Amino acid sequence: MREAPAGDFDYEETGHAYSSVRKSEPRFGVAIRKAFGDAKRVLNVGAGAGSYEPEDLDVVALEPSAVMRAQRPAHLVEAIDGVAEELPFGDCSFDASLASITIHQWRDLGAGLKEMRRVAKGPVVILTFEPVALQRFWLSEFAPEMMQYESGRMPALDEVAAHLGGSVEVSAVPIPHDCVDGFAEAFYGRPEAFLDESVRRSQSAWGFVSPDVEETSVARLSESLSDGTWDQRHGSLRRLLAYEGSLRLVVAMP
Ligand SMILES: C[S@@+](CC[C@H](N)C(=O)[O-])C[C@H]1O[C@@H](n2cnc3c(N)ncnc32)[C@H](O)[C@@H]1O
Repeated sequence: MREAPAGDFDYEETGHAYSSVRKSEPRFGVAIRKAFGDAKRVLNVGAGAGSYEPEDLDVVALEPSAVMRAQRPAHLVEAIDGVAEELPFGDCSFDASLASITIHQWRDLGAGLKEMRRVAKGPVVILTFEPVALQRFWLSEFAPEMMQYESGRMPALDEVAAHLGGSVEVSAVPIPHDCVDGFAEAFYGRPEAFLDESVRRSQSAWGFVSPDVEETSVARLSESLSDGTWDQRHGSLRRLLAYEGSLRLVVAMP
């Protein structure tokens, strides 16, 4: 086991229940699979419990946390221990590389993205959140400290593009109402989810505010739900089938 977490969050300590709330959302999987084009051999970096790994392709998964590697279902390949910043593979040894919901945690974003570009002949595919759009999410009204920290963790997409080089396309990914990958905006129309501690524990951002700040944030939301204020202001989101928030798919060609 490594001495310090590979990223900014300690999954060894708090990641044990990740896969119970953070599942692979099939509609994002379709967009990611399309971005791979005719790739046959794919590297998944920061692979976690295996979300978004294309099951019809030859996948190598790399994940630094033992707790996360242990949550991979048996039908997926075992993940190799390693970090994005130093990929243990030769140049162009994959057709494509993938990093889903992980780049904001890396110690050295530029080094990691350059490594992803180096080992892939074709597309580098990244699923991430655009920081300005994320800050606009309604949860900022109730958990301002947490949301400000979370937006600040997310790299600007022009920085991501500059590290990747080549031609880069960024597209917004609509979040379905019943999204099964439980990141914060996945619950845009199901606000009661944030009252559930197991949901918050699977969202690393809550780990960056004190227990007191978290309790106050949850109490504010709970009160707003009880007295009807949340519904007055945001209730239409309960009926919105898909939400265009901050989720983005970045596809870089060499
Ligand atoms: C939010 S999880 C996402 C996991 C998976 N990709 C998914 O979509 O569910 C972030 C993952 O990034 C990993 N990670 C953090 N820092 C990393 C680094 N420097 N290199 C590679 N992976 C890293 C964590 O261990 C964690 O498993």
